[in-house]
Amino acid sequence: MKVLIVGGGGREHAIAWKIAQSPKVESLYCAPGNGGISDIAKCVPIKALDMEGIVKFALENKIDMVFVAPDDPLVAGMVDALEAAGIRAFGPRKNAAEIEGSKSFSKGLMKKYNIPTAKYEVFDNSEHAIEYLRHQEYPIVVKADGLALGKGVIIAAGFDQAQEAVNRIMNDRVFGNAGNKIIIEEFLSGQEVSVLAFTDGRTVVPMASSQDHKRALDNDEGLNTGGMGTFSPSRIYTPEVADYCMKHLYIPTVEAMNKEGRKFKGVLYFGLIITKDGPKVLEYNARFGDPETQVVLPRLENDIVEILDAILDERLHEIEIKWKDNAAVCVILASGGYPGEYRTGYEITGIEAAESDSAVTVFHAGTKKEDSRFYTAGGRVLGVTAVDANLDGAIKKAYKGVAKIRFKDMHYRTDIGKK
Ligand code: AMP
Ligand code: GLY
Repeated sequence: MKVLIVGGGGREHAIAWKIAQSPKVESLYCAPGNGGISDIAKCVPIKALDMEGIVKFALENKIDMVFVAPDDPLVAGMVDALEAAGIRAFGPRKNAAEIEGSKSFSKGLMKKYNIPTAKYEVFDNSEHAIEYLRHQEYPIVVKADGLALGKGVIIAAGFDQAQEAVNRIMNDRVFGNAGNKIIIEEFLSGQEVSVLAFTDGRTVVPMASSQDHKRALDNDEGLNTGGMGTFSPSRIYTPEVADYCMKHLYIPTVEAMNKEGRKFKGVLYFGLIITKDGPKVLEYNARFGDPETQVVLPRLENDIVEILDAILDERLHEIEIKWKDNAAVCVILASGGYPGEYRTGYEITGIEAAESDSAVTVFHAGTKKEDSRFYTAGGRVLGVTAVDANLDGAIKKAYKGVAKIRFKDMHYRTDIGKK
């Protein structure tokens, strides 16, 4: 079959790498892809948000399945547009992707169906929000309602900072329409775990757990980023925690979406926080996580295309999904300055040397390829991923790989996987 992946980051490289291993796939395309993806798929210069362009390409090239990986095309309804054109598309429809696209929707869903989450209030008026903030305990969390590239969450230490966050989101509109509404929410403490789950709306199958490292610098210092590294499995996601989550979080969420007439088919990402009162949902995403995918898919035994097909046909219950009894670690190599300003266009060396260890795979996040050389092209550049029998071994192998790679002003955390 012919498969098209929409997107062009490290997550999409990991998805392409896994799909390319399927004997069912004859041709693999990626729009727009990146330097690394171009080694295993034909990259086509269509932007991930170009709904018309993607539909047209899929029709003209008789694509059998389109995998829509990023949040914004899902939330904008790309799966609906593809289906309307008669193309099989993997990912939730627009009305189900709203579980990520609107935090006021997802919080309302959790409240209505008693799914454990932080207490919250929603405001569409900044004065009311600020009045409310005068009588709260701190720290408190202020969130823009819509998609904001992971930057729409502010943890405010006191009233002044919270008020400033409300003003920036609602009055200065730093996130545009994503700030039409805000959520003010109780601050929770605990370690965060990411659990991605396959679901066809009838069955939900959680994948291996993982943990992200969101801050730019070691010891969780520095600014929030899209993710500086991941490891799988999580040490704190025990079988008991998993059982609790299945019963109180995962199944109730899938059922709640059905009851709301928004059947979710695709990958549902549960952003969990393990508090002293038990696991709670911090956020949902309507897709694979980045860089969680880079440590989860290398541990999947199955042919992923069989799983995707089963989800589309709503027969996921027929598939036995198996995980390798190993561990994986992904260290992100970023451009100096990221997540602030950074420069791109620097030559990258050492990728092949790093991959000479068969346990290491280098997923490209922001690269381009010219005359068979790779150059930096984004804030997050590469995800050096290693698998081994256990986490300590995977950490060592990943950093051994990292040590072989060079580009100007390369920056990475040295403590990935230590949590
Ligand atoms: P979200 O996009 O809602 O997951 O928020 C991004 C990050 O902000 C999370 O991964 C947490 O690190 C942090 N965060 C969000 N909500 C809360 C909360 N209620 N309490 C503590 N930290 C939070
Ligand atoms: N790693 C966080 C996310 O994909 O949203």
